Amino acid sequence: MSYYEIQGGRPLSGSLAIHGAKNSVLPILAACLLAPGQSVIHNCPDLSDVSVTLDILRLLGCRADREGDTVLIDASALGRSDIPEHLMREMRSSVIFLGALLARLGTAELSYPGGCELGPRPIDLHLSALRTLGAEIWEEQGALCCCRGQGGLSGREICLSIPSVGATENIMLAACGCPGLTTVVGAAREPEIIDLQNFLRSLGAEVKGAGTPVIAIQGGASLHPAEYRVMGDRIAAATYLCGAAAAGGEVELTGVLPDHLTAVLTCLEEAGCTIHTGPDRIALAGGPSLRSISPVRTAPYPGFPTDAQAVLMAALAGGEGATLFVENIFDSRYRHVDELRRMGADIQVAGRAAMVSGVGRLHGAAVRSPDLRGGAALVVAALGAEGTTQVSGLRHIRRGYQALDKNLRALGADIREVP
Ligand code: UD1
Repeated sequence: MSYYEIQGGRPLSGSLAIHGAKNSVLPILAACLLAPGQSVIHNCPDLSDVSVTLDILRLLGCRADREGDTVLIDASALGRSDIPEHLMREMRSSVIFLGALLARLGTAELSYPGGCELGPRPIDLHLSALRTLGAEIWEEQGALCCCRGQGGLSGREICLSIPSVGATENIMLAACGCPGLTTVVGAAREPEIIDLQNFLRSLGAEVKGAGTPVIAIQGGASLHPAEYRVMGDRIAAATYLCGAAAAGGEVELTGVLPDHLTAVLTCLEEAGCTIHTGPDRIALAGGPSLRSISPVRTAPYPGFPTDAQAVLMAALAGGEGATLFVENIFDSRYRHVDELRRMGADIQVAGRAAMVSGVGRLHGAAVRSPDLRGGAALVVAALGAEGTTQVSGLRHIRRGYQALDKNLRALGADIREVP
């Protein structure tokens, strides 16, 4: 089983272009189904979650070809509306196909989605919203069946009790195929929602309000294919910044908007890093050692992202002083803690709270990625640790990071993949 071997303690330096955002490209690729013809998506990262999405599109009858970081999706011959279990199991976010298939074909059949083990991750909000739009949904032999109800689909107001990112996206996609006005109240405000809105608009859809809690979609128009460039990945950027904060040194990231990372940058500055930003670049200079910071509470955007909780925790675990983390989005999102403890971290968990007492410096150990961001956190910890760390479970990391080892090597880290 392959693993990364990392010799810690080498400061990072240099510049890195951040790849396209995983959480944008997945709904955007599903949205390609809405428009017959060939859409061209640039800045599409080469990740295993993206490969699964392309496999799903092919299985449904689309052509899906990659040329470097561009993918071409031709959805003219869309012929199927069912996604088998082995593909659904790979990735929870494949539930996004429900809205897209319903909008284009009026029917969809999915097995229950898989993905990271982050505690119970229900999809009740997705399902009740689609029902409000006129879909009939029932369960049959472990599969979720969904079709246009007798009255057909039509735009409605939908109030979300939680600003769910996936539910907001699913509604936006489904609503494109629902005649009339759909309004999502209490929508997620994440930048990836704005990216999806921008892509849908380029297909000819009438969508507005993304980035605010109310999104309006005037559905029913026929859509045409488009060419689009996906935004930079703010969580990959947060990971490299935390890596540089842990190891020290100076790095510059390009292709990412600093506004998307305000909450993360505020924490890193408080911890003693110096940060300079430009329109689509972020430069970070690490101090000699990281200081403790005010409590880090994860929250929907623009709050501190749950996806960056583990990587920041890993950096601060090798710093000085105590920092409280509170995870408010997902249960079971401290699965990296036991692995960080193997590296000498002092972290006490009580329910949603984790108290991290910096130990000055972590040490190398053999550790295992528990999930995608937990795996990235172990790499961050290893970059600043004394001695050698072996991080296994790379399949988790490959879901969300393109060439993590190669990129870190280019920044001066001593990291190699052992097959
Ligand atoms: C997306 C991101 C993920 C990120 C998360 C929160 C993608 C592919 N993934 O996941 O990386 O960590 O947003 O920023 O974009 N919930 C329900 N019922 C539902 C849906 C969600 O109770 O029907 C709850 C979840 O259990 C969770 C909270 O709502 O507690 C937020 O989840 P949600 O925003 O939906 O996350 P995802 O879209 O799955």
